[in-house]
Amino acid sequence: MNPLLEVKNLTVQFEKREGTRFSEKKERKKFAAVDSVNFCLYPDEILGIVGESGSGKSTVARAVAGLIPISSGSIVLDGEEITDKKGRDLRMIYKKIQMVFQSPADSFDPRKTLGYSIGESLKNNGMTRKEVRTEVKKLLQSCELPEEFAAKYPREVSGGQCQRAAIARALAIRPKIIVFDEATSALDITVQKKIMELLSGVKKTNGLSYLFICHDLALVHKFCSRILVMHDGKIVEEGEPDAVIGNPRKEYTRQLIDAVL
Ligand SMILES: Nc1ncnc2c1ncn2[C@@H]1O[C@H](COP(=O)(O)OP(=O)(O)OP(=O)(O)O)[C@@H](O)[C@H]1O
Ligand SMILES: [Mg+2]
Repeated sequence: MNPLLEVKNLTVQFEKREGTRFSEKKERKKFAAVDSVNFCLYPDEILGIVGESGSGKSTVARAVAGLIPISSGSIVLDGEEITDKKGRDLRMIYKKIQMVFQSPADSFDPRKTLGYSIGESLKNNGMTRKEVRTEVKKLLQSCELPEEFAAKYPREVSGGQCQRAAIARALAIRPKIIVFDEATSALDITVQKKIMELLSGVKKTNGLSYLFICHDLALVHKFCSRILVMHDGKIVEEGEPDAVIGNPRKEYTRQLIDAVL
């Protein structure tokens, strides 16, 4: 089977600011937050990424979703090299990847209704107002929110409801991949369980693949088909959940598991 997403030698560097605000000489050095990372995401798969805070998980996610520039390497999405694409071509490609973040309320414009934000991309794609309204209603329904939610503002709904709206907004674009960056981490356990059920459901009906970043190893174990373990910008272990979490080969993974037990 061909991979849907192929990440080859991905390196993302950031500037490291050294010295204090008052020191005369400020050195600007670069460091690799993500260092030669290789992985594939296959159709229908849920690929988990775990690793301690600062290990580079979000940087991988943001690079893959086109939100930050990469320093070197290549990203092939659905058979197309995207690293050298620009402008309209790039936007077309990135319609295939959507991202859902930890605090959905922050990712919505507080001055716009949820319905407006969910339908915005549809309107930009040339749908009429009426078509957008119908589609938003369907999207809300598929995320188990009543249609009245279209008229609500982000601050008027709970965290779990807002996350459902964020999933609806991601689905509007009809992506092939959704990247979840700690998307369920801020929710209480019962709401989290319901969101996970929703994610399993919409994955099936929409034929999606997920990249699922999460620090909850039990959840990753249960939900993902394969897991990558990141440490210091690198992938140190990769495999099926039972192998990686049940019988880790690397000391780092063992420590990560011990830390939550
Ligand atoms: N925009 C940025 N500018 C400079 N350094 C950054 C930037 N974004 C991330 N970093 C650094 O890159 C490294 C990896 O960060 P990243 O956010 O990818 O970690 P993470 O694995 O997602 O951590 P967490 O579990 O806490 O979310 C960290 O050292 C972080 O400080
Ligand atoms: Mg992160």
